Amino acid sequence: MSKKNEKYGNWAMVTGASSGIGLAFCKQLAEKGYNLVMVARSVEKMEKEASELMGKYKVDTKVIGVDLSDAKALSPLEHVFTQLNIALLVNNAGWGQPGVFKKHTLDNCLRETQLNINTPLTLTKWFIDNNSERKGLIFLSSIAAYMGSPYLANYSACKAWTLNFGVSLYHELKEEGSDVLVLAPGPTKTGMFGIDNIDFSKIPMHWMKAEDVAKLAIKNLGKKPVTVPGLINKIMKFMMAKIMPRSFAQKMFGSMMKPAMPNSIL
Ligand SMILES: NC(=O)c1ccc[n+]([C@@H]2O[C@H](COP(=O)([O-])OP(=O)(O)OC[C@H]3O[C@@H](n4cnc5c(N)ncnc54)[C@H](OP(=O)(O)O)[C@@H]3O)[C@@H](O)[C@H]2O)c1
Repeated sequence: MSKKNEKYGNWAMVTGASSGIGLAFCKQLAEKGYNLVMVARSVEKMEKEASELMGKYKVDTKVIGVDLSDAKALSPLEHVFTQLNIALLVNNAGWGQPGVFKKHTLDNCLRETQLNINTPLTLTKWFIDNNSERKGLIFLSSIAAYMGSPYLANYSACKAWTLNFGVSLYHELKEEGSDVLVLAPGPTKTGMFGIDNIDFSKIPMHWMKAEDVAKLAIKNLGKKPVTVPGLINKIMKFMMAKIMPRSFAQKMFGSMMKPAMPNSIL
């Protein structure tokens, strides 16, 4: 991605901007000169980060506190798309409910689906309808999208939607000169799953830094439709998608996840 104003416009919206990969996107986009609309529930946290970014990089910021798992709460964001010429949208906010589906409440499952599917779909629609110029769009999928995963059933299914939606838009928007990238990370050190007492040390995987994952996505936007960060994740994806029978890959993923989860969710 080129410097400020050269390729996309001035304003970027990042959902899930209060921590992890989303915050890493904010820092790197601010460094490139983008003004930021930061969206998540933790307003105080975002305001603190926003004021640091404004001081350091002389960019403008707008912090919006919204629960993206609630369809009725999204309307303030529609207003932002009509007011500001958002040129880059990073649909990053996401959450996965670990454990067996049987133990999940329907309400939580529907919120998970709203957050991971309906919200990015809605924001993408508003984004595209309100901007006729060259655009950049980044979607956060996951390596789990390639095979589905026991103990993350709804989450991995949502991420498969993201992958398919994003790569399809890649081809549609390419015709008008806009860019779409689906970022499909493997395990990345962030707060995700933290509240459910998952013991990450029991998952035999290589954990990447959020900064490296975000950096690669920014670099690859406009160059290809999908990025799987990290050599180990690339090899895993290749084996799961091209070599192993799908059901074997699913079973293997589940047997890696299960030991890390507390009995209360199994
Ligand atoms: N970490 C991994 O291993 C991994 C792997 C593959 C894909 N991903 C994907 O990467 C994306 C970012 O996750 P992360 O790993 O950076 O996790 P994270 O540190 O937990 O960040 C998640 C972000 O999403 C926001 N968020 C969650 N629920 C929300 C809600 N209901 N309304 C508004 N904002 C909400 C959180 O903010 P608030 O809590 O302040 O609302 C936070 O800013 C997600 O889409 C995730 O599925 C992560």
